[in-house]
Amino acid sequence: MDILLVYGGRSAERRISLESAGFVAEVLDAAGHNLIRLEIGAKGEWTLDDGPVQLRALPESWKLAGQDGVVDFDLVFPVLHGPLGEDGTVQGLCEMAGWRYAGADVMTSSLAMNKVATKRMFEWRRLPVLPWITVRASRSLSTSELTGELSPPVFVKPARLGSSIGITRVDNLDRLEDALDHAYSYDCLLVVEKALDRAREIEVSVLGGPDGASASMPGEVLPGKEWYDYEAKYECEDSRLVIPADLSSDLASRLKTTAEKAFEVLGGTGFARVDFLLSPKGDLYVNEVNTIPGFTSISMFHRLWEASGIPPKRLMERIISEALTRRRIGRERPVGE
Ligand SMILES: Nc1ncnc2c1ncn2[C@@H]1O[C@H](COP(=O)(O)OP(=O)(O)O)[C@@H](O)[C@H]1O
Ligand SMILES: [Mg+2]
Repeated sequence: MDILLVYGGRSAERRISLESAGFVAEVLDAAGHNLIRLEIGAKGEWTLDDGPVQLRALPESWKLAGQDGVVDFDLVFPVLHGPLGEDGTVQGLCEMAGWRYAGADVMTSSLAMNKVATKRMFEWRRLPVLPWITVRASRSLSTSELTGELSPPVFVKPARLGSSIGITRVDNLDRLEDALDHAYSYDCLLVVEKALDRAREIEVSVLGGPDGASASMPGEVLPGKEWYDYEAKYECEDSRLVIPADLSSDLASRLKTTAEKAFEVLGGTGFARVDFLLSPKGDLYVNEVNTIPGFTSISMFHRLWEASGIPPKRLMERIISEALTRRRIGRERPVGE
């Protein structure tokens, strides 16, 4: 199959995308697919297999043209993390263009990328979330709003980013203003959330399908720092993944069911990694859903599937088949339907 691998991007998570794309390319290539590489540069420019590219909005299906003419492909595989990639924008472009694409659709992507929208959907479905409020840049947060359940320690986060970028843990109100300023430098929409002390970080991979979502076994992240910040994620050699997570079978199965529900309430298309925080007492909270989770050779997403009996090549085939059979909005029915 001819697959257009789209990677790089403008977001602060660009570097991670380059690493993830390397691994995805290796697996797709080994599975015999023909890869066409489209890199989105840090300033948003597109480069197709090292040359300039044009987008032609033709009737039915838009076309990409490189130096040697039109480039045809069967599927787009976006490996972009963060805004303008993981958030439904690139997926929307694919819908407009009439291109099938791997991973979550527009709605699942944009809901999952937005921590405010995600939490509202979780609350609606009665999935457990930590106490939180939303703050917009247009309005300052008075300290009186941070009382009771929401008194420090809290986490201040940009609503639509990932990789822990722009996030600060605030233990003391004196630090709140700086934390808000820092998060505002990335997004005008923020989340302030009660910190869960000594939380365990448990993650579950999910795959969408015509009969609903299916979940992998849970894994655990041991951050190697006080919390899983950018450095702990990508630079700290002490961070470790434990697969499977050391949990009772009851809790493991509750995590799987909750991960499926969390994914489905956001639309349940494509694939995702659902992240939880588990208190020392055993209380479980859904933290977030990543629709294009890290995909480097050591990433949790595919390692959880591998431990659950689906190695990377088969995982890719599942992802591709879900993408090819998904019913598209405003388009023809798939063959045989
Ligand atoms: N409420 C919380 N209590 C304890 N730790 C938290 C909380 N929120 C976030 N963290 C820590 O910050 C990390 C990043 O937060 P997260 O919401 O997952 O943002 P991102 O989308 O950037 O990954 C988490 O993996 C965890 O280590
Ligand atoms: Mg996270």
